[in-house]
Amino acid sequence: MEHLFDKVQETVAFLHAYTQSFQPQAGIILGTGLGNLTDSIEITHEIPYSEIPHFPVSTVEGHAGRLVFGRLAGKNIVAMAGRFHYYEGYSMQQVTFPIRVLKYLGIQQLFISNAAGSVNAHMNVGDIVFIRDHINLQPENPLRGKNDERFGLRFPDLLNLYNKKLNNKALQLAKELGIPAHIGVYVATQGPNLETPAEYRFFNIIGGDVVGMSTVPEVLVAKHMQLPVWVASVVSNKCFPIEEIAETTVEEVINAVAQTEPKLSKILTHLLESL
Ligand code: HPA
Repeated sequence: MEHLFDKVQETVAFLHAYTQSFQPQAGIILGTGLGNLTDSIEITHEIPYSEIPHFPVSTVEGHAGRLVFGRLAGKNIVAMAGRFHYYEGYSMQQVTFPIRVLKYLGIQQLFISNAAGSVNAHMNVGDIVFIRDHINLQPENPLRGKNDERFGLRFPDLLNLYNKKLNNKALQLAKELGIPAHIGVYVATQGPNLETPAEYRFFNIIGGDVVGMSTVPEVLVAKHMQLPVWVASVVSNKCFPIEEIAETTVEEVINAVAQTEPKLSKILTHLLESL
């Protein structure tokens, strides 16, 4: 069987040829309802996932599924419009394959966005939460299996997982721009169901602020390769306290997040400028 490392190099070589060796400095993952950020990118190349060797194909509502190369805030960037989730049935290796590719395309910072439920009574729909730590409740780990030292260590430590300097900068910016924002802890669940009231309460008790079904696999793989990450969650539904939980549809999640999208774009643009 072909090694993951060789597959990554093949995909990177393909993308180098496709983009005439465009060199991105930063990567951005656009989460559910956050795809409009691509409107601000001066696009030089874009390609559907279905045309990229070894890439899985994205299927979820609200996820377009293409890789976008271009300029944003004076920087060369590559953006994933659409990501892969474990609950879709992909393996953890498939979910995180694009992160390995982005690393070997040369990015030095990964920016991740997602939609998340709030289990902190002070964090409301539309607020942005900059992630400082996580609690991983997903049943599988993308680093499980034989370790390839070319990527990184067998036992990566998880201190300083999230870029504190960028978080502080983002919070300061949000304050200046009048955007409701917080620093918080992300709880990762498998999905695809949302959670029971008792589960949301549990997440609050164990120290979570927001809960979502993505991001942590990507963060773990980025850490494996010493790639710094910054994560912003947009609160799409309120899940704590119990009296504030309402039935939630995927359309509501997408709409709630889409309204905050321009604010998150503004913050992200400033952070990119500061790199
Ligand atoms: N639970 C898990 N994932 C989510 C939620 C939620 O309530 N909202 C958005 N993503």
